[in-house]
Order: sequence, then C-alpha cells, then structure tokens
Amino acid sequence: MPLGIYIISIFMTAQILSAKPCVEKVKQDLKKRCESLKARGCHPSMSVILVGDNSASMSYIRNKKKLCEEIGAKFTLHQLLPGISGDEFLNIVHTLNNDSATHGIIIQLPVADHLAVLNLPQLVTPSKDIDGFHGENTRKLFEGSTDLKLLLPCTPKGCVNLLRHYGYDVDGKDVVIVGRSLIVGKPLSLLLTNLNATVTLTHSRTKNLRELTKKADIVVAAIGKGHFLDRSFFDPSRKTIVIDVGMNTLNGKLVGDVNTENVKEVVSAISPVPGGVGPMTVLSLIDNLITAAENQLKG
Ligand code: GUN
Repeated sequence: MPLGIYIISIFMTAQILSAKPCVEKVKQDLKKRCESLKARGCHPSMSVILVGDNSASMSYIRNKKKLCEEIGAKFTLHQLLPGISGDEFLNIVHTLNNDSATHGIIIQLPVADHLAVLNLPQLVTPSKDIDGFHGENTRKLFEGSTDLKLLLPCTPKGCVNLLRHYGYDVDGKDVVIVGRSLIVGKPLSLLLTNLNATVTLTHSRTKNLRELTKKADIVVAAIGKGHFLDRSFFDPSRKTIVIDVGMNTLNGKLVGDVNTENVKEVVSAISPVPGGVGPMTVLSLIDNLITAAENQLKG
C-alpha cells in the first residue's frame, strides 16, 4: 500500500449505517397511511403462520408484531403444531387467503420438511403476499420494475432503502453481492440491475472472490457465514460501502457476515448487525402490508 493511502487509512473509520433514523422517519409515514386506511373503514391486518417454535423465528415475529402495533395495524400469530398435516396447513392458508379482513400473510420460514415440499412461495395469494415471494410479484423484478411500492422481497428493498437514506445512489455503481439465496441475493441482483447498478452475483463456488470485492463500490454480504468477510476482501482506496445482511451466531453472539471491527478502517461505510438490514427488512414488510391493504381497498 502506498504510504499516503496507508496514513489516510489508519485514521479512517467507517460510517455506521444504522437503520434507526430511517425507521423513525418511515414509521411516521406508515402510521399516517394506516390511519387514513382506518378512516376509510379498512384496518390493515397481518397474519403470520408459524409452524413450531423456532427461537430465531419467534424473535423475528416479535419484531413484526411490535412494529405493526406501533403504526396501528392488527397482528395475528397462527402458531401451528410441528406435526400438522399438509392438508390442514393448506386449509389454514386458504382460509386466510379468502378472509377479507386479512390484508397480508406470511408463512414464517423455515417450516418442517414435510411442509417445505408444498411449493410455499406460491401458496399465499399474490395480493396478500407481503413477503414478495410469489412468482407473480417476483416477475415484476424480472420485467425491470424499479417501483419500490410494489410487493417486492423485503430484504432487498430494505438494503436499497438503507443506502438511499444515507444518500448513496446505486446508479452506475459496481455492486458485488456475496450469496445467491432466493430471499436475498437473487432478487437483490435484479432490483439493483433495474436501478442501473452493474451487479456481480457471487457465491460459495466463485473463484477469486477477493479480486471481485476489492474492485466493488458496494459489497452486499448475504452468504450466511459469520465474519466471512475480513479486511483482506477490501481495497482501502476504493472507499467501499458494505451492506451486511448476515444474522449468524458465533460464540453465542449475534454477528453479521462481515467482521466489522476488522474492516472498519478499510471501508468507508458499513451497516451494523444488529441494527442495520434487520430493522429495514421489517420496515419493508410493514410497508408491503400497508400497500397491500391500499390496493385491496381500491379493489
Ligand atoms: N425467515 C427468515 N427470513 C424470513 C423472511 O423474510 N420471510 C419469511 N416468511 N420467513 C423468514
């Protein structure tokens, strides 16, 4: 490293892209939209279907319930026994799909193996699919939509809104996504492409991953491995912005996919774990709920 860059880099510490200020702002807007719906006789209502009592799922669900209550929306948890049959499970989803007082439905993942074969993303009717998993909703991403008001997958939407809140425009930027999951990596690659970023979608079999991340303007870590990315993945002169989607347990502690302590002097900004993408994802979900209720009221 040239001496000048070395001296700058030892004094540089990354900006922390906390979700908190964005959440506070957007929450007020969601509250107003919810009040306006209620004034027109529609009380936005979210139903979450949980099979069993997975502790991580329970914690995610508590966050969803809290935010629903804070903005004045209804929240109902349908907690089912782990041994529920496929037919009984399908019946519950079908009943909620046809219930006009339910505006948004989530099947909390993971579910037991005997239910996972049920083509879950296609079960919730598209107009109530606030996870944005149904083919009819993801097709809009394939078609090139940039409309963040659609029922788009929540984590990708949360990543883009977090970047926007801090004034980072992705237009023309080189973005490397690490991780190709159905919930994050793949839909995010489409959303960012639609927003004019040049996207490289990488994964566990990518060769020379460091060469790619070192050239990126923005790196999104969504590979699901605690502290997978350290300072060896970044070139300090690039002033990289890092979005950490990871939620891993390492030595009993919740950590991201990026070792923040290790990279904070070689990147220009990084989202924290916890307190970064997680709250932004819940916010996107509630935004989808209100959007779904608005659309259903319009008919
Ligand atoms: N489990 C972990 N993340 C998610 C999510 O975004 N949606 C659902 N339905 N389940 C999850």
